[in-house]
Amino acid sequence: MIPIFSWILVYLLVFGFPPSITAQCRVPCRVSAFTPFLPSGVTIEKTYEVPGGSGLNGSYGEGAPLDLGHPTNATNLPHLCAVTVRVSLPNASSSYRFGLFLPPNCTWNSRFLTVGNYAQAGGINWADMGQGPHYGMATLSTDTGHNSVESDLSWGLNNPQALQDWGWRALKGSVEIGKALVEGYYGRRISYSYWSGCSTGGRQGLKQVQVAPDAFDGVLVGAPAWDTQHLFPWITRLAALNRPGTAGFLDNAGIELLRGAVQRQCVLERTEATRGRVADPFDGCALDWSRIRCPGDDPAQCLTDAQVSTAMSVYADYHSNATTGGRATFPGMPLGSEALWGPFLVGGPQVEFNEAYERYWLYNNASWSLADYDEGRVVADSERINPGNATADDFNVSRFRDGGGKILMYHGRADGIVPTGSSQAYYDRTVEAMGEVDDFFRLFHVPGMYHCWYTDTTVNAPWIMGGAGQAVRLQKDLNFGQGWSVPGFEGNGTYDALVALMDWVESKGAKPVEKVIATTYDGTRLKQRPLCKWPAKAQYKGAGDVYKADSWSCV
Ligand SMILES: *[C@@H]1O[C@H](CO)[C@@H](O)[C@H](O)[C@H]1NC(C)=O
Ligand SMILES: *[C@@H]1O[C@H](CO)[C@@H](O)[C@H](O)[C@H]1NC(C)=O
Ligand SMILES: *[C@@H]1O[C@H](CO)[C@@H](O)[C@H](O)[C@H]1NC(C)=O
Ligand SMILES: *[C@@H]1O[C@H](CO)[C@@H](O)[C@H](O)[C@H]1NC(C)=O
Ligand SMILES: *[C@@H]1O[C@H](CO)[C@@H](O)[C@H](O)[C@H]1NC(C)=O
Ligand SMILES: *[C@@H]1O[C@H](CO)[C@@H](O)[C@H](O)[C@H]1NC(C)=O
Ligand SMILES: *[C@@H]1O[C@H](CO)[C@@H](O)[C@H](O)[C@H]1NC(C)=O
Ligand SMILES: *[C@@H]1O[C@H](CO)[C@@H](O)[C@H](O)[C@H]1NC(C)=O
Ligand SMILES: *[C@@H]1O[C@H](CO)[C@@H](O)[C@H](O)[C@H]1NC(C)=O
Repeated sequence: MIPIFSWILVYLLVFGFPPSITAQCRVPCRVSAFTPFLPSGVTIEKTYEVPGGSGLNGSYGEGAPLDLGHPTNATNLPHLCAVTVRVSLPNASSSYRFGLFLPPNCTWNSRFLTVGNYAQAGGINWADMGQGPHYGMATLSTDTGHNSVESDLSWGLNNPQALQDWGWRALKGSVEIGKALVEGYYGRRISYSYWSGCSTGGRQGLKQVQVAPDAFDGVLVGAPAWDTQHLFPWITRLAALNRPGTAGFLDNAGIELLRGAVQRQCVLERTEATRGRVADPFDGCALDWSRIRCPGDDPAQCLTDAQVSTAMSVYADYHSNATTGGRATFPGMPLGSEALWGPFLVGGPQVEFNEAYERYWLYNNASWSLADYDEGRVVADSERINPGNATADDFNVSRFRDGGGKILMYHGRADGIVPTGSSQAYYDRTVEAMGEVDDFFRLFHVPGMYHCWYTDTTVNAPWIMGGAGQAVRLQKDLNFGQGWSVPGFEGNGTYDALVALMDWVESKGAKPVEKVIATTYDGTRLKQRPLCKWPAKAQYKGAGDVYKADSWSCV
């Protein structure tokens, strides 16, 4: 103890203080450091020098009520300058704020990272921004032009300009202005620009690839809610399908019963039979409904015919008569996703969420309710109006590809918020629009993962891989890890998808992402398995520890 401490003292006396606090490394964290680079309509609202470290020293954020969408602070930050920028463009009826985390000049690696938001949240996502500076990246997040919690859509009422800002415009402007401020501040160019976002964050990344192909060199896109114009009508349709008081109503207890039955049939019984040698127990699991339908395995614990029929409709792809060409309007929920069904199917504040899209975004009519729901009309109107032009369905992204851009997309196979099929549809339609895409666009399914993070404890599938928001969830919910990257494998591209994406981009395509090893902890035991590039799947080699990644190959 004492000798180590003495050596640190000797080091400090001989070599001076660590780089983060030496004079040549310090970049002034003052408004005046940005003034020369401010375009018109742009002001610096605040600068704050974060000392870095544990506790409050390394904590930064705005909290509620200033930041309702992302009130959580980033934690464990290294030394950096936090900046809040306000953009007001009355000529374009657009206004928004964005935040920057700027590491000291001597640790900035010339890379730029922008992180996404969730659902309809308005606010700077400081927590997820915390990831970037650990890699040495200058990092940005936009508030998308409004301040609200994730489930709120009411700010869109009679406010088409705010919807455009949320849909794509605030992010496009934030990245353009943010890049100029970063380059001015450091006095050198950004070498590479990246995106990391999940859910709405995934949509935001894809949308920028379409509207601003030069914004990013690489985008890490998780479970993208890209098809806004169909996702919202599908959510309303789930609420209409599962009305309280009807025979087929599935309440939380009914959903939990279904979840248990699916876990039992697909995971426990199959896993037992195969001794954990199946990567995705839900893949190809033929549910035996007769064991769930009353009287079922247990007459005291079963679903009625009407409830089974509701459940089957939830799993099935949704075909509205308004969507032409035989395409599904929206894919159904995958097996294993049941634990996440509550918000869209059952009561509580989410009932309002289920009507809110039509009420506040589509029809601008605060009296609209489920009683006014006409399935075919809602879908047709949503396709016609596409509020905020938020849907990212301009599949020909040849300008992005030709500029060297890369897309790494991942999606949990047990996602009950944005069904996995939605990413598959995005991938397939890009192939339809562009032909071969493997040189710049790769899709990775994550067996057993829910929406963006976590897994059912029965499956306990590896899911931690540097995806957007994952490290923050681990830190916040489980007090585990450092708030960035994969705990124990920080910054290693074999395990961290963002680093793998950087290697792919910066090798000019010479080191494409073939697989990413995902991690989880079974109690205290490390469990790892490769995530394979679609359509390959992880297959057990026939020998070796099922918890070790090299016991599996991508086939
Ligand atoms: C925060 O920084 C101060 C000044 O360097 C230091 O005295 C204190 O111990 C730090 N707190 C924590 C929790 O690291
Ligand atoms: C969040 O960070 C700010 C700025 O460092 C600090 O004032 C505030 O106390 C932090 N909030 C929490 C909950 O840690
Ligand atoms: C609005 O003004 C800004 C700043 O002066 C300018 O960059 C932008 O092009 C203008 N936008 C429109 C739509 O006129
Ligand atoms: C940052 O470091 C680079 C050299 O890496 C130097 O050219 C530049 O002037 C420095 N910028 C500032 C603001 O000190
Ligand atoms: C708004 O919705 C209510 C309830 O359906 C309806 O009675 C009313 O006519 C609608 N208002 C407008 C302006 O469409
Ligand atoms: C679809 O069904 C709705 C009723 O829900 C009907 O009003 C509409 O005309 C139908 N649209 C088409 C294209 O058939
Ligand atoms: C809407 O967004 C798409 C890209 O997704 C873009 O091609 C189109 O020009 C935008 N439309 C308008 C009216 O801004
Ligand atoms: C895709 O867009 C590019 C221009 O951005 C165009 O040259 C090309 O023809 C388009 N490809 C298809 C299949 O439409
Ligand atoms: C990443 O992990 C792999 C496998 O554990 C190891 O071989 C490699 O050296 C690590 N790479 C870095 C940059 O640490």
